[in-house]
Amino acid sequence: MRYEVVLPAAGSGKRMGAGQNKLFLNLADKPILVHTLLVFEQDANCTGIWLAVKDEERSFIQTLIENYNITKVKGLPTGGEERQHSVHSCIKEMKAVEVVLVHDAARPFITIPKITELAEVAYEKGAAIAGVRAKDTMKIVQNGLIKETVDRESLWMVQTPQAFRYDLLVEAEDVAEKVGFLGTDEAMLVERLGHDIHIVECSYENVKMTTQEDLIFGEAILEKRNL
Ligand code: CTP
Ligand code: MG
Repeated sequence: MRYEVVLPAAGSGKRMGAGQNKLFLNLADKPILVHTLLVFEQDANCTGIWLAVKDEERSFIQTLIENYNITKVKGLPTGGEERQHSVHSCIKEMKAVEVVLVHDAARPFITIPKITELAEVAYEKGAAIAGVRAKDTMKIVQNGLIKETVDRESLWMVQTPQAFRYDLLVEAEDVAEKVGFLGTDEAMLVERLGHDIHIVECSYENVKMTTQEDLIFGEAILEKRNL
């Protein structure tokens, strides 16, 4: 299943506290962003990469793209205030394709077989997102007190990639923009249309580099994969 991918990369990495966009931090020998780009560069089904970037970081990112021979980048539009705006700026620039994947540039450990599975489910059924089962007992807490223990069977922690038929994602984004709805992921926009979204069980290794501990975990994943 052929697809194009949108990689929002215009965040500031506040929770990482590195004083710069966390995507430029190295994991082993390469920046996080380059690890992510290389996965899609190496996937034969990926026909285009769209990166939402900050204007002041565009030329540095272009240098990384050249240095690491990333050939599939089709555009680097300016990102927005929120992640959803950054994704939207890419969707607006791209031409119609069958399937679009949205993937956090900060998740460098996604694998090609999982990407393929997500793209295929999205092609057949409209929408598919990656997720993992919650591991811990989950409780609703209000004012420091336990309100309720939630049945863990139905709880998933969702990740990216989130894969959609192009037309469905465009419609969901248009509606969200019209009514000023802001979601934390693309699935929320599609949920509002009442469309089914399939969950594809992914790996706990598909972690988002968010805080400092994630870098330690990330280095360990790379070491294990290179054994
Ligand atoms: N992102 C983006 N545009 C924004 C905010 C985030 O393109 N306005 C991107 C980030 O670069 C990242 C992905 O969305 O690749 C996931 O966001 P997150 O992990 O929250 O990254 P940051 O927003 O950079 O980090 P923080 O929230 O800690 O500031
Ligand atoms: Mg953020």
